[in-house]
Amino acid sequence: MSAENASLIRLEDYRPTDYLIDTVALTFRLHPTDTRIVSRLSVRPNPAGQTGAPLVLDGDDLTLVSISLDDAPLAQDAYTVSPSRLVITAPPQRPFTLTLETAVNPTANTKLMGLYRSSGVYCTQCEADGFRRITYFLDRPDVLSVYTARIEADADTPLLLGNGNLVEAGARADGGHFAVWHDPFPKPGYLFAIVGGDLDKVEDVFITASGREVKVAVYVEKGKSERARYALDALQRSMRWDEDVFGREYDLDVFNIVAVSDFNMGAMENKGLNIFNDKYVLASEDTATDGDYANIEAIIAHEYFHNWTGNRITCRDWFQLCLKEGLTVFRDQEFSSDARSRAVKRIADVRVLRASQFPEDAGPLAHPVRPRAYKEINNFYTATVYEKGAELIRVLKTLIGAQSFRRGMDLYFDRHDGTAATIEEFIACFAEASGQDLAAFSRWYEQAGTPRVTARGIYDAGNRTYTLTLTQETPPTPGQPDKHPMVIPVALGLVGADGREIALKTADGAPHDGIVVLDTAEKTITFSQVDSSPTPSLLREFSAPVILDIDLSDDDLLRLFAYDTDPFNQWQSAQTVATRIIRRAVDDIRAGRTPQTPDNLVHALAEFLDARATRDPAFAAQVLALPGESDIAREIGSDIDPDAIHVARKTIRAGLGRALADKLAALYNDLAVTARYRPDAAQAGQRALRNAVLDLLTAGDPTRGGALAQAQFDSADNMTDRIVALATLTHVAGLACENALAAFAARYADNPLVLDKWFSLQAMIAEPETLDRVKALLDHPAFSLSNPNRTRALVGSFAMANPTQFARPDGAGFAFVADIIIRLDPANPQLASRLATAFRTWKTLEPGRRAHAEAALERIAAATPLSPDVSDIVGRMLD
Ligand code: PHE
Ligand code: ZN
Repeated sequence: MSAENASLIRLEDYRPTDYLIDTVALTFRLHPTDTRIVSRLSVRPNPAGQTGAPLVLDGDDLTLVSISLDDAPLAQDAYTVSPSRLVITAPPQRPFTLTLETAVNPTANTKLMGLYRSSGVYCTQCEADGFRRITYFLDRPDVLSVYTARIEADADTPLLLGNGNLVEAGARADGGHFAVWHDPFPKPGYLFAIVGGDLDKVEDVFITASGREVKVAVYVEKGKSERARYALDALQRSMRWDEDVFGREYDLDVFNIVAVSDFNMGAMENKGLNIFNDKYVLASEDTATDGDYANIEAIIAHEYFHNWTGNRITCRDWFQLCLKEGLTVFRDQEFSSDARSRAVKRIADVRVLRASQFPEDAGPLAHPVRPRAYKEINNFYTATVYEKGAELIRVLKTLIGAQSFRRGMDLYFDRHDGTAATIEEFIACFAEASGQDLAAFSRWYEQAGTPRVTARGIYDAGNRTYTLTLTQETPPTPGQPDKHPMVIPVALGLVGADGREIALKTADGAPHDGIVVLDTAEKTITFSQVDSSPTPSLLREFSAPVILDIDLSDDDLLRLFAYDTDPFNQWQSAQTVATRIIRRAVDDIRAGRTPQTPDNLVHALAEFLDARATRDPAFAAQVLALPGESDIAREIGSDIDPDAIHVARKTIRAGLGRALADKLAALYNDLAVTARYRPDAAQAGQRALRNAVLDLLTAGDPTRGGALAQAQFDSADNMTDRIVALATLTHVAGLACENALAAFAARYADNPLVLDKWFSLQAMIAEPETLDRVKALLDHPAFSLSNPNRTRALVGSFAMANPTQFARPDGAGFAFVADIIIRLDPANPQLASRLATAFRTWKTLEPGRRAHAEAALERIAAATPLSPDVSDIVGRMLD
């Protein structure tokens, strides 16, 4: 979008295009500042469109060099052209060929949309509307064409890649060379890609289930190919998994992944040619953490799975974005669950959902999983579309059962392959496969806001019954004051006083499957043959994306922590108790009292450390992490004082750390990994627990913890242990911290991805000096605002992950981030806009900080020029 004030685009205004483009033949003559693109389009009137309409092609920042129709130059009065539009006034009402030549400057392309250069590599990014920055086109997802791309380049750009299969390559008379790529699968422009560069690769051959050979390769900067091995392995495991679990085979002769260092997002699923932020490809034990490995595995899988959910079946329009994204996130979550621990993966995913999506859903940026209107589509690649979108697939699967779900997926692939589909069409497949009416379920896609479910239970000893009443309410969100009830599957169990699971029987004695579907404002269910007063375990496995309000005592919850058969609810119960305790501590601090760490949690954790922690270390690490500051802030919801939350959490953790010191110290020793480094779930879990133990120990005794952290920092043989030690040292501050930071920077001076971690750690230090430190780091020779990873590491971490310093009481944190957004916006509006979302919870702050946040937002809103991206985000936040 290049218009100053983008207008509102509405779902209800959708209509098909007046023309279709069956084939696209592109020729790129790559040049750093003057790349020429010749595009031959075979166009025909769309029977579903309006006869005789002008042909209106999208452009963005384009220069038209020449235009002809059926190979004859087009008369000047037959068309109008601007950088953002090409209109053929009266095109033939029969098939015709339109040939366009455009000129673009990849080096000057700082938006990283369209064709750009990243560290000397030519690459493209076309989702959502970047193809129109390459050539004039019907740049929308429901225009599907078969593409051929001829790429010509000088000898210094030996590698030329495109979508589909390589059909021809050779030398040119001028000393350069060319390659022709053909993709037989019709696709929208947003899935188009080319790459030109001089890169190293790792490669292998993957044999599909039906015996076809696929050459798979990962391309990275010269000298870094060993660090691409894990990504290549993750790709092949993803390919096998999609065959095994969803019956989906790969369909081309090659599958290429290219890693680039400048990228606005995580990665992109271009057909047969995925382009990745190198952060999600490159890994070695010396440079990547266990978390990095897990992210690489997940994102490689995600992009690969798009081949079926996104590419073979794409979206009719951008309102349907969750059709590919929510579904594909669900698929990558399932893949990781199968590759690692399902329970731990679920806990991690729910943590992400609550940290990223719940605040969005509760604030000014709330929108339905399928939005009804947008100004700037790039602002809708949100946690709601992705993460809540994935939860809705999970809800659907729970409602209809695994078998019907798989049948519905098969039907969807069968019926919609090669088309651009809608959410309605998707849901219809599951209604058909399950025989269920899913009309009420569809409301999840229409209604924003997180439903709040309240549960109240009564035990009747005389009748041996337990009666549970569930109610639901969804709060108003922008543009949606009144909400209807949602269809909420509540997975549940009853835990007896002896800790044992009680068999569920309905009132008439029949077995109950443990899923109560709450689809009205209120629902009551009675279980019979309950011999003693039970503790309900509700929303097991987090069976729906809701906020649960349950009137259990701390003791009840700690019983679930000890005995629940559902690991998710074990974790959740400890989490809920800890949240309550920290909230009380916040009240204490704001009232001038000193908070105490209560014995009940100490005892429960002591028992846990003694008896269970080492049985599933990854799970135990999640338990010991306790709720974060933003989790507490979200629970409090209004009039938030981030400093009080910080002190409260620190005080409670210090109390736990002191009370459990001996056990923690013993565990820290016992958990040391002696085997050679492997990034697998088992070893990663052991490291995660040991590092969580170190963190808690340090909270209780900073001197002792600091010494352990220093020793760990000095002796670590992998990045996970090294970076945790460094982070721990930044919590205890002082000279040791500064020395360790300097040593780390020296060691990794030429590794940008590791330096990002160094920038990020410093930006997250919760002390008032941090703002000055971050400002000084802007002048560090390795810092650059034009590299998105670097900007996210320094400024993003400060704004998104340092709640006390971003929301400094004097407003200087907000002002600083506002300045950066204003500076960044002209060069890279998408990055600036994403950074601005750090303000999305500003209305929940106490009045003083809120006023500072508002002033900062007003200042951004008044900046000129302001991109449609930032203008839209800031406008909605101020509304
Ligand atoms: N479609 C990409 C994904 O989720 C994300 C993306 C969107 C990348 C827009 C670049 C631009 O896999
Ligand atoms: Zn995706």
